[in-house]
Amino acid sequence: MLSDSRRMFLLCLGCLGALGAVSIKNPAQAADVRSPKAHDRRIITIYFSWAGSCRDVAREVQRLIGGDLVRLETVEPYPAKYEDTVSRSKAESKANLRPALKPIPDLSGYDIVCIGHPIWSGSMPMALYSFFDSHDLSGKTLVHFNTHGGSGQGDSHREIARLEPKAKLLEGLAVYGWGGVRDMPSVEQWLKRIGLIEAK
Ligand SMILES: Cc1cc2nc3c(=O)[nH]c(=O)nc-3n(C[C@H](O)[C@H](O)[C@H](O)COP(=O)(O)O)c2cc1C
Repeated sequence: MLSDSRRMFLLCLGCLGALGAVSIKNPAQAADVRSPKAHDRRIITIYFSWAGSCRDVAREVQRLIGGDLVRLETVEPYPAKYEDTVSRSKAESKANLRPALKPIPDLSGYDIVCIGHPIWSGSMPMALYSFFDSHDLSGKTLVHFNTHGGSGQGDSHREIARLEPKAKLLEGLAVYGWGGVRDMPSVEQWLKRIGLIEAK
């Protein structure tokens, strides 16, 4: 039989243990709090990138809101030489071509689809048209970002609104990305603005 004082001591120890467990859990809970609107929804960030800038922005988006990260790639890769990629992209655009894409995961289970790309000739690379042609994003929250060398969004945001009229398209982000991204903090500011992470 435990004496009353020993029972009380064990009870207090149990309470302290429970408090300790709460404080140990806090860091993980704090991480959840970063994306209060996003943490209980399935998120995927899909990006197309030729030189790496849009990939870097996509990685930052995923780091901040979680979810899956997928690279959109054409079956036939674009040339390594800039001038050759410009020529091919212009020819594809002129022909309104839809370059074949490598498979990506089924998107039906995702609530939030983030999609990023560079600006090519003032618009989206035709690979993005291939993507939107083959995925119906109706009812999903669509989060659009792009990198560019001076053209801002070009007509890409308008085009996405036209191609996915039944998606909930949030305010987009255009980041200068010629030769790398310098303004990465703008990604977090934008995600706060559109409510995907908590504004502190
Ligand atoms: C084929 C091609 C065409 C481009 N056309 C434009 C353009 O019209 N306007 C612009 O601002 N930047 C243009 N750029 C620059 C890219 O949009 C910019 O460097 C972007 O950040 C690259 O992203 P990435 O590194 O993920 O490929 C072009 C780049 C390439 C390769």
